[in-house]
Amino acid sequence: MLSSKTIAVIGAGHMGSALIGGILRAKLVSPGRIHAARRSETALAELHKRWGVKTFTDNAKAIHGADIVILSVKPQVAAAVVRGLAPAVQPSQLVISLMAGITTDTISKLLQVSGPVVRAMPKTPAPVDAGATAVAAGAGAGERHLALAERIFGSVGTVAVVPESAMDAVTGLSGTGPVYIFMLIEAMIDGGVKMGLPRATAAKLAAQTVFGAAKLVMESGKHPAILRDEVTTPGGTAINAIHELESKGLRSVLIDAIVTATRRSEELSRILAG
Ligand SMILES: NC(=O)c1ccc[n+]([C@@H]2O[C@H](COP(=O)([O-])OP(=O)(O)OC[C@H]3O[C@@H](n4cnc5c(N)ncnc54)[C@H](OP(=O)(O)O)[C@@H]3O)[C@@H](O)[C@H]2O)c1
Repeated sequence: MLSSKTIAVIGAGHMGSALIGGILRAKLVSPGRIHAARRSETALAELHKRWGVKTFTDNAKAIHGADIVILSVKPQVAAAVVRGLAPAVQPSQLVISLMAGITTDTISKLLQVSGPVVRAMPKTPAPVDAGATAVAAGAGAGERHLALAERIFGSVGTVAVVPESAMDAVTGLSGTGPVYIFMLIEAMIDGGVKMGLPRATAAKLAAQTVFGAAKLVMESGKHPAILRDEVTTPGGTAINAIHELESKGLRSVLIDAIVTATRRSEELSRILAG
């Protein structure tokens, strides 16, 4: 489905190049069918050396002949970069934006085309192919465009299709989520160190514990509360720790963090929409 397509990535930075890596590892297209664009020639030379992709400092040249255009510049420069593509973009090209807080409607207006636009919100673990990406269709995008986006982001993890109105909540949950878990792991490491474990040992055990718990939730299909009950022995360590976590409000804090991050995403979207 994708192997005959040419994909241009405008803004091949952290997320853009993580995606290029995923696409190539999954062999969705050959390296010659990837056009990577950014301003730094040194960084582009590294991308070419690493993956053999075609590189461009001129965005319009990068999208010439591409079937799919992935926009991955920072939201702050999005308006200028996307407007700059308007003379070159074709209505037949599928545009996929990873840019946080920018609606498909804004992108269509900046590009001045009525072609298909899909919005995606990947999360940080995409570089290790363990991302969780939500994709939403804008006006002009249909099932087949969403299917292409699902295939592309499927190369770096799991994909969920959501309505565009849910994108701020996705940003608050999975888009920002790795930060919550990094803090959780950091605190678990400190807890282990406080109780006498060497830091390297505590770090290894804490990260593996989080990984294993997440894997169990995903693979068992059981609700996390059931899994928790299954390992909570009467009078044991787990129930005592649970009591402590409940009395300090762990769950409320996490819910509040997601609500606050979602609200901030909504605010930023309004600012970016001008
Ligand atoms: N990182 C994440 O975890 C994450 C998660 C969800 C969504 N996103 C979204 O992904 C997008 C990229 O984020 P990132 O973290 O990958 O940022 P990043 O590493 O800074 O990548 C952006 C790239 O854009 C390039 N760029 C800047 N101006 C340009 C221009 N005029 N023309 C072409 N390229 C240009 C920059 O390279 P040069 O300086 O060489 O031009 C840079 O490498 C953002 O919109 C962000 O909202 C990121």
